[in-house]
Amino acid sequence: MTPLERIIRTEIAETGPMPLERYMALCLGHPTYGYYMARPAIGAQGDFTTAPEISQMFGEIVGAVLAHAWQTMGSPRPVRLVELGPGRATLMLDMLRTFRALPDLRAAVDIHLVETSPRLRAAQAYRLTGSGIQASWHDSLDTVPDGPVLLAANEFFDALPIRQRILRDGSWRQRMVGIDAAGRLAVLDIGPEDGAGFPPHLLEAADGTVIEDCPAARAIAGAIGARLARHPGLALIIDYGYRGPAPGDSLQALRGRRPADPLEAPGEADLTAHVDFAAIAAAAVASGARAWGPVSQGSFLTALGIGLRAERLRASGASAIDLAIAVERLTGVGAMGDLFKVLALASPGLPAPPPFEAS
Ligand SMILES: C[S@@+](CC[C@H](N)C(=O)[O-])C[C@H]1O[C@@H](n2cnc3c(N)ncnc32)[C@H](O)[C@@H]1O
Repeated sequence: MTPLERIIRTEIAETGPMPLERYMALCLGHPTYGYYMARPAIGAQGDFTTAPEISQMFGEIVGAVLAHAWQTMGSPRPVRLVELGPGRATLMLDMLRTFRALPDLRAAVDIHLVETSPRLRAAQAYRLTGSGIQASWHDSLDTVPDGPVLLAANEFFDALPIRQRILRDGSWRQRMVGIDAAGRLAVLDIGPEDGAGFPPHLLEAADGTVIEDCPAARAIAGAIGARLARHPGLALIIDYGYRGPAPGDSLQALRGRRPADPLEAPGEADLTAHVDFAAIAAAAVASGARAWGPVSQGSFLTALGIGLRAERLRASGASAIDLAIAVERLTGVGAMGDLFKVLALASPGLPAPPPFEAS
């Protein structure tokens, strides 16, 4: 039994089954034993790999879209360059390399990283300061200074804790984590009745239907939207998920690159859930931003020239096979290309960024 499982069992013994949302928050963010606090393992040797870790082309293209937005904003100085959940800072380093082509932009950016993991903060600081880059760290977006903003968040929203509700005998109940008859941690459909705020088409759903909701994602999207309503800016949100309300249990665990049971070994596996892009867009729009997309990651990267970029890298000596594999992983259907999506949020006065003009 992991140390965190002991803590969770004690809390259940004292106060009863806990909402799944709290279980996920503890597994990822417990100050000592949460996955991101104790053992975040991102990259080729880790529990999971993300798009920036697959190829520099991903971050360069995201950076190019943000750079273009800065120009349409009238090239404000300073501009806050904000990343939510920067992992190993690979995306940030790749974006900044792209910005070097625009020295005025590189001079204007004031870098802010929103990161709760002390270990990842240390890794980010090591890599950024090693490249002579200064940055500030924040626990949440709230403390990032106001002003024009360029924001990126890759695989950040999927790490926020979700609520699940299940339809049982005509009523929706919150799903809880408790102890089953065999003494194991289990998801129990015994939470309080909670049928508020459902999309109407789900009111007629079949018994056993699960729907998910991520209050933290809606709150952060609302804060991004409010910021974009006050100051010019663009936010690109990239993650895996669905376009609208989609029933189903999407909670999953990865441990040592393999799917695992989310209830097994709490704190030792990365837990994620599909992102509801429609809910994020709606929260940002309700706060005053405009939203475009989501479009698939494959169509985003292809429309913005990943093929051409790969060709240039090959001409400068990179391995053609490695580049082809990276392009396929990032854009291929059945790889990351269709499951992952890109949502753009922008200030009301700004035009749609490429490649969203067409959508
Ligand atoms: C799946 S990793 C993605 C890392 C990086 N964006 C990448 O693409 O490689 C999730 C990141 O979000 C951070 N994170 C998770 N929950 C967070 C929270 N509530 N607030 C701030 N950062 C958080 C993690 O520590 C980690 O840096």
